[in-house]
Amino acid sequence: MLKGDKVLLRAVRPDDLERYVEFLNDVETQVLAGGALPRPLSLPQVQAHYQESLKQEHDVWFAIDAGQRFIGQCTLQRFDPAGQTCQLGISIGDKDYWGRGYGRDAVEQLLKYAFRLRNMRRVWLGTSETNERAQRCYRACGFIEEGRLRQHRWTDNRYEDEVLMGVLRTEWEARQQPEAEPPTP
Ligand SMILES: CC(C)(COP(=O)(O)OP(=O)(O)OC[C@H]1O[C@@H](n2cnc3c(N)ncnc32)[C@H](O)[C@@H]1OP(=O)(O)O)[C@@H](O)C(=O)NCCC(=O)NCCS
Repeated sequence: MLKGDKVLLRAVRPDDLERYVEFLNDVETQVLAGGALPRPLSLPQVQAHYQESLKQEHDVWFAIDAGQRFIGQCTLQRFDPAGQTCQLGISIGDKDYWGRGYGRDAVEQLLKYAFRLRNMRRVWLGTSETNERAQRCYRACGFIEEGRLRQHRWTDNRYEDEVLMGVLRTEWEARQQPEAEPPTP
């Protein structure tokens, strides 16, 4: 549905779930993703969650497809129609695809969708202070740090700050302008 240079963001399909359950049972990925505390999840549990997701119309949930391979998933949720804001989430479960620009491409497609098609004014997210890879990916897409919730997360035997990041539509639009030509002498 949303096509980037490296990824296609499309609906999650039933045949993605076997791989998805592997990603959800990887403790390293789940600790980095920072959602629910890691716990074992079975395929029927994930299938039930998928069935529930089909009933709700508010959140937007995409599979991240790279060359017809399901490598992870990403979301826009907590849509606030008055403030025109929403929260972005992403997790690439296939570690072979970490640090190779797939996350950046997916986040860029999500921002384009949020601003141009959903008329959002600000997109925000939270990540761990130690998740340097995620922060670099988000900064490359125009997010800036807006604040920190100190010692907000319990992550692998220590408390960590939650880094809140956001990008305004005006900032995102300014980044879409082509570089100005240097003045001719
Ligand atoms: C976070 C995530 C979406 C980023 O996607 P990605 O494809 O790996 O990231 P990108 O390649 O687009 O960008 C990563 C940036 O971090 C850098 N990087 C890569 N590995 C790194 C590491 N181990 N430590 C610090 N920086 C690292 C890259 O050089 C790049 O920065 P640069 O463009 O300034 O050079 C992905 O790694 C992921 O899903 N990880 C697991 C779950 C997770 O952390 N989710 C986010 C929760 S907020």
